Amino acid sequence: MNAENADSENEVAVCRFDELKDPGSREFQYEGGIGRGFIVRKGKAVFAYQNYCMHVGHALNWKPDRFLTGDGKHIICSAHGAIYEIDNGLCVGGPCPGKKLRALPLEIRDGVVMVQVPAPD
Ligand code: FES
Repeated sequence: MNAENADSENEVAVCRFDELKDPGSREFQYEGGIGRGFIVRKGKAVFAYQNYCMHVGHALNWKPDRFLTGDGKHIICSAHGAIYEIDNGLCVGGPCPGKKLRALPLEIRDGVVMVQVPAPD
């Protein structure tokens, strides 16, 4: 399954939950690549965010599917080092403390992580 699979216009089937490392992350796209997001697994939980740093709006990752600090405990922005909590997207270090990543709703359906993405403008 790849990131372009979608069951509906506003939903993306990212991957199977059991394909994710723990901790681990996976990026995806929507709106033909205009929209970018990622999911992060932490234990039995998984979270989804837009791939948009709240500092100055860069994508968070430089390498495919790499969104976590070396110890796997936080999300990190590769541009200037903002550090975000995995569970809620809150910036707890770097240049934009107190700001939050844009969370996306998700559910696991038949073992697949399904993310609701914003409707096109
Ligand atoms: S754009 Fe992410 S830390 Fe600057």
